[in-house]
Amino acid sequence: MKALILVGGFGTRLRPLTLSFPKPLVDFANKPMILHQIEALKATGVTEVVLAISYQPEVMLNFLKDFESKLGIKITCSQETEPLGTAGPLALARDILADETGEPFFVLNSDVISEYPLKEMIAFHKSHGGEASMLVTKVDEPSKYGVVVTEESTGKVEKYVEKPKIYVGNKINAGIYLLNPSVLDRIELKPTSIEKEIFPKMASEKQLYAMVLPGYWMDIGQPKDYITGLRLYLDSLRKKSQSKLASGAHIIGNVLVDESAKIGEGCLIGPDVAIGPGCVIESGVRLSRCTIMRGVRIKEHACISSSIIGWHSTVGRWARVENMTILGQDVHVCDEIYSNGGVVLPHKEIKASILKPEIVM
Ligand code: GDD
Ligand code: MG
Repeated sequence: MKALILVGGFGTRLRPLTLSFPKPLVDFANKPMILHQIEALKATGVTEVVLAISYQPEVMLNFLKDFESKLGIKITCSQETEPLGTAGPLALARDILADETGEPFFVLNSDVISEYPLKEMIAFHKSHGGEASMLVTKVDEPSKYGVVVTEESTGKVEKYVEKPKIYVGNKINAGIYLLNPSVLDRIELKPTSIEKEIFPKMASEKQLYAMVLPGYWMDIGQPKDYITGLRLYLDSLRKKSQSKLASGAHIIGNVLVDESAKIGEGCLIGPDVAIGPGCVIESGVRLSRCTIMRGVRIKEHACISSSIIGWHSTVGRWARVENMTILGQDVHVCDEIYSNGGVVLPHKEIKASILKPEIVM
């Protein structure tokens, strides 16, 4: 089986992290977002993944070359010369996706995390006989997603509305599809939105079916959702493989610590924290609801909550970093600084406190 991951887009909502790496390479729970997806696809029997890319393909390819052999999966790039939206890239990769087997293929948005119930999805797809299957989930605020109205007993989508202005329902498109090759005949090679131009028509022709996904789901393309997503991911990890989580007197709740990270005396860490490879957490540090990316040093007695600390940054002694502070790559926060929601661009030194949420250029 094959799969295509929609990788394009500039990831503006996840800046300043995406100023250093394309969104799919931003670490989530100690590995690049896209690896979570590629591993799940591999586990379902996918042998080739096409990355539909509209910018910075070299960075992605260089990075993923290593994983091709490690994971034993073929990774190819389909590069757009202009952004083709969410459907156009399928037409561009048509020759790879529609092969002699005639099998359906997966399409994934690159910023969604879940337990990826892809085997269940294949069984669902076989059971209904329509051209396309979509995973859906229920959310409280459906207006920023695509919304489906389905026939309860079969999952047949009766109506699909992308980002509705008025309430249609609370079941939303989770950004994971299984499509028959025939869907490609509906898409022209030009900028096209699968959500606005293809799915509504397929729904009216009764060819689109929705399966409610079991377990958690999150689009982690914005800082607040990224932090919530980590909580959901770690909760699920506790249920599936608790041994991967840290334990000890200094740990509260769910905490993921890379084996190469060093943690000093008298720290208190958790809940919902990820500490990446090569990090140094000095003594007396307090961390909660945060992500500490690869190569970061947190100095003595610093306190970090509800924040993301980008690659190779440092946070000084007695510093207090909170309220959706996002430090880009290689940012240095001096001793005793307070950051209340600062969004700091890469390679900066912060010498004065940031008292209210703002972007520091
Ligand atoms: N190759 C390529 N080219 N990829 C693109 C392009 C493009 O021109 N534009 C967007 N993408 C990719 C993004 O990188 C992302 O992986 C995916 O397409 C969806 O784009 P987003 O910008 O993240 O869309 P969204 O989050 O507002 O909405 C989408 O996802 C929701 C679920 O998270 C829609 O599919 C909604 O219907 C859905 O509910
Ligand atoms: Mg998104």
